[in-house]
Amino acid sequence: MNQFRNRELIVVTGKGGVGRTTISAAIGVAAASAGNRTVICEVSGQQSIPAAFGVEPQPLGSETTLGPNLASITIDPDAALQEWIRAQAGAAVGRALGASRSFAHFVAAAPGAREMVTITKAWELGPGRRWGRGKVEHDLVVVDAPASGHGTAMLTAPRTFADIAGSGPVKEQSERVWDLLTDPIRSMLVAVTTLAELPVSETVELNSWLKEKLDRPLDLVVANRIGPPGFSRSEMKLISSAVDSEALPSGAAKAAELNSARASIESAHLAELQSGLDAQTTVIKLTEASAGTESSALVEQLAEQLTKSLPN
Ligand SMILES: Nc1ncnc2c1ncn2[C@@H]1O[C@H](COP(=O)(O)OP(=O)(O)OP(=O)(O)O)[C@@H](O)[C@H]1O
Ligand SMILES: [Mg+2]
Repeated sequence: MNQFRNRELIVVTGKGGVGRTTISAAIGVAAASAGNRTVICEVSGQQSIPAAFGVEPQPLGSETTLGPNLASITIDPDAALQEWIRAQAGAAVGRALGASRSFAHFVAAAPGAREMVTITKAWELGPGRRWGRGKVEHDLVVVDAPASGHGTAMLTAPRTFADIAGSGPVKEQSERVWDLLTDPIRSMLVAVTTLAELPVSETVELNSWLKEKLDRPLDLVVANRIGPPGFSRSEMKLISSAVDSEALPSGAAKAAELNSARASIESAHLAELQSGLDAQTTVIKLTEASAGTESSALVEQLAEQLTKSLPN
């Protein structure tokens, strides 16, 4: 079973703290186990994925091997820009750009430039696109995108740059990244949320924004950190009679009630989420791991749940 076959890029977005990095790692593990050579990209100087695999990270901009078929990288936009300029060196324009230090400074200072270089580097890690010989090829690139605003800036930067670049290598490059981002066969847009008010409304807003700007809805929404289901009325009765007969401690009835209250709030937010999304967006639920679960075990557990929950 390979739910990631023919996917080249997966961008994982969502509100801060909902579990984007953990889910990106879990998607990476699930895709690698299905046989896809996969690289997970961290951005904005973040570098927490290698530690979750118990691996010492390589310097920023270099790939760290995490296991069979799986690597991670923290994209360094300055290094990526230099790499891009060098890769253009075959063309006369590229030589001129490569020789011009002010070009690098100009690009780096332009609004949205760091997001543009970052998403372009993520594109480059994919199949058949590596700048320079002898670099490891990946089938699939998973991007742990920055939270909300910066994440959306990364998704539209290629369009903006293609529009303002006139003609030439910047335009050509931006168009190729844009083509991938807007292709629902080759790329996948994922949002992670928890079943709470703000993350759910941000996810619904993100979905509308994507339809307007990229002409496609979210492909997948991961509702993360779901608690256990609530008790039914008959189960609640059994619990309270067990408390009455002192078979269960007195706190058990209160704990069961609190659990049911939380579960019904989650169900209400799930309904709200589903009604704000499009029919073609898959929503899956991943559970809250028990406290103290080590990050590597957490990622493994979530990868297994993901594989089971994703449509084939
Ligand atoms: N399903 C889960 N069960 C238990 N803990 C989880 C689960 N998913 C994520 N966590 C924990 O929640 C915390 C935040 O997760 P993570 O760092 O992946 O979120 P993030 O969205 O990437 O955050 P940031 O916005 O800071 O980048 C971490 O401590 C992580 O271990
Ligand atoms: Mg993160």
